[in-house]
Amino acid sequence: MLPYTEAANPITADIDISNPKEIVKKLEECDKEMFSPKGLDKEKTLFSEDILRAMVKVAEVAKKLIFQSDSGKSLIIMSGCGTSGRIAFMMARTFNRFLKLTEKKFAYTIAGGDQALFTSQEAPEDDRETGKNDLIKACEGRSQILYIGITCGLSAPYVAGQLNHCMENPEKFTPVLLGFNPVRLARDLPIYGWQKTFLKVAQELELLSEDDKAFLINPVVMGEAVTGSSRMKGGSMTKIILETIFLLSTAASDFSISECKKILKLYEETCKLFYESASNAVSSWMSWTAHSFNADGHLYYVGSNGAGVLGIIDATECPPTYGATLDDVRGFICGGYPEYENNEGDLGQLGENYRINSDDLAELLGRGPDAVKHDTLIIVAVGLTDPVLKELQENKKLGSSIKNVAGKDVAEKMKVGVVLLLEKDAQLPELPSFLSEIFVIRLPISDEVTPNTACSFLTSTGAERLKKSLFECCAKWFYNGTSTGAHVRKGKVYKNFMVDLKVSNQKLFHRSIGIIKRFSPGISEDEARNFLLRSIYEVDDVDMTLSSSSILTHIMAAAPKDKVCPWETFSVPFSITSLGSL
Ligand code: F6P
Repeated sequence: MLPYTEAANPITADIDISNPKEIVKKLEECDKEMFSPKGLDKEKTLFSEDILRAMVKVAEVAKKLIFQSDSGKSLIIMSGCGTSGRIAFMMARTFNRFLKLTEKKFAYTIAGGDQALFTSQEAPEDDRETGKNDLIKACEGRSQILYIGITCGLSAPYVAGQLNHCMENPEKFTPVLLGFNPVRLARDLPIYGWQKTFLKVAQELELLSEDDKAFLINPVVMGEAVTGSSRMKGGSMTKIILETIFLLSTAASDFSISECKKILKLYEETCKLFYESASNAVSSWMSWTAHSFNADGHLYYVGSNGAGVLGIIDATECPPTYGATLDDVRGFICGGYPEYENNEGDLGQLGENYRINSDDLAELLGRGPDAVKHDTLIIVAVGLTDPVLKELQENKKLGSSIKNVAGKDVAEKMKVGVVLLLEKDAQLPELPSFLSEIFVIRLPISDEVTPNTACSFLTSTGAERLKKSLFECCAKWFYNGTSTGAHVRKGKVYKNFMVDLKVSNQKLFHRSIGIIKRFSPGISEDEARNFLLRSIYEVDDVDMTLSSSSILTHIMAAAPKDKVCPWETFSVPFSITSLGSL
């Protein structure tokens, strides 16, 4: 059986031939499965007793570590690869800011280091030794650690190395595995230079979890809208689970399964309200962005705080998923690196794609209206005091550069607009007329679902934090919907499979073989592998030397290349580019 995280979701089987409104509808149905997947009686899902219990237990451990008297010695560390590592970073940032303690209580590691926060670094995912060493370094000077290893597929060797290290040092670590497959479907493939597989590590951890010496949080959320694209539901569910755990541990005096459930229900309600009020905005921006992509233009996001971070996260995942260039989708944040607060600080010297400040976006727009006329810029603002709104209202650096490119009275110009996430009763702010579109998404729609009323067990600052987190989820769904839909419309998805993925690590190598097999009925695994190698090495015959080389060798050969997965060669009579025109 395929792991749930790699399975094709029937809801989106024809997403590639759907119009924007239909695409949003399908994304909505997929996202709702996070909370109530259908037909899964035998699997653990979000509201299963086991999952809620594990979340509460982890929240109790976290609370103890945060507030115990010798707290200088304790640390909560989250870790993962790709989007999982980026959400780990975001959660550490959020809760360090929320607690405002002089000594940071939350930390993160990500495969590939901080570069991976801004550009995709796929190969380090396979390196369990570096995972272990990164963890050891991050924990220097701390003796009591809650470690949360995030891997949606229960597959990343980087995380396996860390979990294993935790289990070897039980006096120091409480390990938690967070992902979205049952343990039996964890990856059972060899990890370079190791006798264990991820499955083996997960089974050991499961055993320890029987005595609460470790914890497993692995609800099934069903297949992603674009098969295997765990940046979507996987990333959202990771954020929701971690926020719920840390809100309980930092902002609730007393809690049990019932409080945990109340917070989760609020996320579920928010998801429903988001799609009720934002579907038009998402489908419109998706169309405009597809239009930009088809004219070789770009998509830019800019926002502040969590909404800014999430725009950058969304952009980062487009190259490995859709074969996009680093410039196709970019995110920017008001305040730049000092606001980002990543471990390694300002990485701007590494190049253009590491420049994340809204002022950098202003400079880019400074190239003039003609240079950006095919581009789309989406400004996402949360609440009336969002700094990105001030940029526009006070005509600051970003505001005036946008005015310069969008305020001209010419036929073709950059599409620029604002998505405003506002509270139900908030007044509409004054905004400059050069913004082509303003969408307002209001939450909550009814009074029963405010954090203050539904979660009165939270402190008032906790309820405020929860509100921000709910808005951030909306921002994430908005970004994911826009960039996913636009790539679908560009023809980067066949049925619901990413067919222009980068073959840049073990998981993506095996995913590519799966895609070739699926679209070439009747061929064996070996034949599919052979076709992939032919494409990677650009040869007609795969000789013994090639076929016996390691997967690592193949990945190193494939990673720098574009359009490696030869899915369309064998059975479908059209190519990627002939699909999805507007
Ligand atoms: O290797 C690519 C990738 O699939 C990313 O898209 C994803 O965010 C990352 O791996 C992490 O995957 P997982 O959470 O399953 O370990």
